[in-house]
This record gives sequence, C-alpha cells and structure tokens, in this order.
Amino acid sequence: MGRITKILRLAILLFVAPMMASGQEDGVRLRLAPALQESGLVQFLRPRFSLKTGVAIQVVTDGANVVLDDQPIGDAKPVLARGDVVYYVSVDEGKGAKRFADWLLSDVGQRTIEQFSPETGLPFAGAAGLATKAVDVVLEGNAARGETLSYQNCGRCHVIGTRNRMKGIGSTPSFALMRSFPDWQQRFGGFYTLNPHPSFSQIVDVTEPFDPARPPVINPLRLTNKDLDDILAFVSTIKPADLGAPLQTQ
Ligand code: HEC
Repeated sequence: MGRITKILRLAILLFVAPMMASGQEDGVRLRLAPALQESGLVQFLRPRFSLKTGVAIQVVTDGANVVLDDQPIGDAKPVLARGDVVYYVSVDEGKGAKRFADWLLSDVGQRTIEQFSPETGLPFAGAAGLATKAVDVVLEGNAARGETLSYQNCGRCHVIGTRNRMKGIGSTPSFALMRSFPDWQQRFGGFYTLNPHPSFSQIVDVTEPFDPARPPVINPLRLTNKDLDDILAFVSTIKPADLGAPLQTQ
C-alpha cells in the first residue's frame, strides 16, 4: 500500500468516519403516518429545520427516533392536525431528535407547519396548543367523581366500563372505543353539541334552556362545567379500545 493511500485511509478513519457516525447519532430518523408522508410536509420542513440546526432528517420505516403518527404512543404530544385528525410527535432518543420535536412544538415550528400548503387535500394546523389546553382540563378534573358521573349520566346508553358492560345500548359506542379516537377530548368536551345529546343534555350556564314546545322525550341530563371536567379526567384514564380487536371485546 502506498504511503499516500495509507495517510488518506488514516484521515478517513480519524475525521470522516467519526463525523458520519456522529451525524447518524444526532440526526433525525423520522417515521411518519402514511398520509403525512404523501403530503410532502417533510420536504417542506426539512430545509427550514436542517439548514438552521445542521441536524439532518432522514425518513425511515424502521429504527426511528422520532415518530409522527395519528396514534398517540407513550408520552407523545399533539403537534399538528389536518381536518379532524390529530398527529402526535414522540421522541425515542438523541439530541437531534429531541431538538426536532421541540422545534415542531415551538411557535416557529407551529407557524412553519401552517405555512405549508399541500398540493392536494386539506391544509395543516399546528396542534401544540391543543396539548396544553387538553392537559389542563384533565388535570383539573377529579377522575373518581367523573367515573361516578359517567355511570349515572351516560351509562344508560354507553358502556362505560366493566360495571355496566352488558347494559349499554348495542349500537352506541363504548367509552373505551371513543377513547381511542385521536380527538376524544374535543368529542367528550363538546358531547352536548353532538347528536343525539343536544335534545336531552344541558350544561349549566352553557346551553340554552330546552324549547318548551319540544321538551326532551327522555330523562334529561344536567351537568355543570365542573362535572364535564371530571368526566374528561375519568375518560383520560380509560384504556383505549384496540380498534383491530373483535367487536365484542370493545
Ligand atoms: C340516551 C342515550 C345517550 C346518553 C344518555 C348519552 N349518550 Fe353519548 N351517544 C349516544 C349515541 C346513540 C351516540 C352515537 C351517535 C352516533 O353514532 O352518531 C353517542 C355518541 C357519543 C359521543 C361521540 C359523539 C361524536 O359524534 O363523536 C360522545 C363523546 C358521547 N356520546 C359522550 C357522552 C357522554 C359524556 C354522556 C354522558 C354525560 C353521554 N354521551 C350520554 C347516546 C347517548
């Protein structure tokens, strides 16, 4: 082996290889929900994040250290929304990965997400605010009280848990099933605006009184905002139904 080649090899070993290795360690290995991958969002984010930070983003299907998905896993945080689908970001390890997630959740990241206009389909919205708002609501609530309220008020139609497993109305979704919707907090928080509830539900100081000409045909529900917070706190503790599981276990 010639001398020059030897020196060159040494140089590669000493400088280039470590750089490549550390680049890999520090880089973002991103796994995305298929719908996000097709949208072109990453191509839009990449230069805006990577040029500033020097942290490369690589899209992978295996061995990811950052995941953007519509199923919240672990301590994933809501980060963006499209229509009524919310996507969550979770970080496995690595400085670059953490930096990317923090950036996505920051004001700048959220604005960048909103600036992206996909070629087809709905635009994206930042959802980092959703996290703080929703978590506050849940933390304020009393889950034990919410459980009692749920059995009392919702249990005649919905399966709430094991105590009324056989009592719900067949076609009515169970709480565990609804807990698996990415936007469950919005749905539960506003359940009284969603059919069939408006005709029989009242939230004190929130909803209009029932039209005297059309009184509720079933025993009406009357809850306060505090009751609703407690119900949300309780629902947050329910294990989401596995949508892939057979129906009877939901
Ligand atoms: C009289 C029966 C009844 C009662 C009582 C009832 N629900 Fe429902 N609820 C339903 C039915 C039926 C649906 C399904 C509607 C549909 O599929 O369009 C539903 C759907 C829902 C949804 C999903 C709505 C949507 O469009 O995403 C939520 C959330 C919900 N209920 C929460 C509650 C909560 C919380 C209570 C108690 C405070 C409650 N419900 C009490 C019958 C009831």
